[in-house]
Amino acid sequence: MQLKHFLQFKDLSREEFEHLFQRTRWIKAQFKAYQTYHPLHDRSLVMIFEKASTRTRLSFEAGMQQLGGAAIYLNTRDSQLGRGEPVEDAAQVISRMSDLVMIRTFEQDIIERFAAHSRVPVINGLTNEYHPCQILADIFTFIEQRGSIKGKTVTWIGDSNNVCNTWLQAAEVLDFNVHVSTPPGYEVEPERAGLYGTDHYEEFSDPLEAARDADLVTTDVWTSMGFEAENEERLRDFEHWQVDAEMMGLAKPDALFMHCLPAHRGEEVAAEVIDGPHSVVWDEAENRLHVQKALMEYLLLGKIES
Ligand code: CP
Ligand code: NVA
Repeated sequence: MQLKHFLQFKDLSREEFEHLFQRTRWIKAQFKAYQTYHPLHDRSLVMIFEKASTRTRLSFEAGMQQLGGAAIYLNTRDSQLGRGEPVEDAAQVISRMSDLVMIRTFEQDIIERFAAHSRVPVINGLTNEYHPCQILADIFTFIEQRGSIKGKTVTWIGDSNNVCNTWLQAAEVLDFNVHVSTPPGYEVEPERAGLYGTDHYEEFSDPLEAARDADLVTTDVWTSMGFEAENEERLRDFEHWQVDAEMMGLAKPDALFMHCLPAHRGEEVAAEVIDGPHSVVWDEAENRLHVQKALMEYLLLGKIES
């Protein structure tokens, strides 16, 4: 089987995503019915974390176990990774002892270098630039609730961070539109976002205008991991980029609200929105488990018919 990585959203095609969504539906239904499904019996996943995590670690670890395999957790503090072992050497060794690797790290370049020296598939569990597993779960959640995302409008409010960049890539792959509103100085950088063009997104200086007629409104923390030194400045700069009830009121009446979590109520989102009727954040978090099981199955076994 050809070695395939998932380092950024555009690494897979629309047709491959359609397959993953179909497999996710089946895998989720089996799980809900307490049906054992162990296609990855005896396989092991190494998870490397250079940043904190709750959902990503839990969903990959539980997911691998539910598929019959094992997950091994490594972090920078307790491994040689934190003591300067070259990432290329680590990739050679780790990929000779495991079947699959998931990495959460800083620059995208680190995961690209690891993948270039890995014998097994590598999955991006978040970098400074991208968070493809999150958007896989988010789009699956949208499809579950509202049907196809093709041609729909997704509004992104706040920082043009890893999650935003991934939404923008996904819009190109799956053919929908993103309305982005960031404070001045935090605009989208198309090259960093890995975009082919500017056809699938529009930037708005007024966040309320960005939200108008949206099918989905989404946001994320004002300060991502690794950028903590900018926290005070960002609290001031992002003050008017909070998703609140007034903003949700401008979106379509059946618009969904998503947040990758963890959230800061009173900063990027008002409690009345994240805890309100438009919010699907708990389904979104749960779906990390199901989509990543489909992803691991696909990267290790190829296409399996449902
Ligand atoms: N959304 C997400 O990736 O959460 P964690 O940081 O808890 O993994
Ligand atoms: N943008 C956030 C997402 C956390 C899941 C971060 O990178 O910290």
